[in-house]
Amino acid sequence: MSQRRPVLAGNWKMHKTVEEARAYARHLIELLPEPPLDRDLLLIPPVVSLWAVQRVLSGTQWQVGAQDVDLGREGAMTGAVSAYLLSEAGARYVVVGHSERRQFFGETDELVAKKAAAVVDAGLIPIVCIGEREEEFVAGHTEEVLARQLAPVVKALPEACWSTAVIAYEPVWAIGTGRVPTPDDANRLARFIRDTIGATMPNAHDQVRVLYGGSVNPGNLAQFWAMPDIDGALVGGASLKADDFAQMALVSID
Ligand code: PGA
Repeated sequence: MSQRRPVLAGNWKMHKTVEEARAYARHLIELLPEPPLDRDLLLIPPVVSLWAVQRVLSGTQWQVGAQDVDLGREGAMTGAVSAYLLSEAGARYVVVGHSERRQFFGETDELVAKKAAAVVDAGLIPIVCIGEREEEFVAGHTEEVLARQLAPVVKALPEACWSTAVIAYEPVWAIGTGRVPTPDDANRLARFIRDTIGATMPNAHDQVRVLYGGSVNPGNLAQFWAMPDIDGALVGGASLKADDFAQMALVSID
């Protein structure tokens, strides 16, 4: 088994009020009492609930992350939230480059890389999402797309951060659709990601944690998590129910 610490992350996207988020977190603690599991367990609520959820989960094995970040630290940047502020609010991880940010907010590969670097600068751990769109998949361009998305990230991040940094491979055609790649295909692409990063940063090859994301649910998680190059999952819709997510947190990996 690899030395990499597995990760299970639940990205709620734009769901749940602060009160709903707090109730979910309290329920999760009841469902999953200590002792801690051998994996990082992570809730990623909307940013307005981050502090409240962190307060509920403080002292438990659960950590909190953010769904996005803006550049800079503090300043005249109306509406922006920096990695420094996220860190102060209790975030340990920050997702950058989710396909919805790329698609609906026009985020480029270069901006995503700058965001990842800002996350690392603030002492937080980036979860960099990459993945091909349906038409790119059909045209057989998946590896080319992943390499293009990774290139500025590899350039922007310092070598030392790869011992904790996370890449989430999320085929866009699998997000919220109920369609998934075969575990073998997902593993092959996780391996490709590892090889691509390792070509520039040899130590990162075996260190970087690579997650699979896209229509993961309690029924299919184990088959992805069991693959040798996949270190966990980034879960959207199926993380919205605490009972389902607790069940996923307990999945046996070996
Ligand atoms: P999904 O979303 O699990 O609902 O497909 C995954 C994601 O967008 O990270």
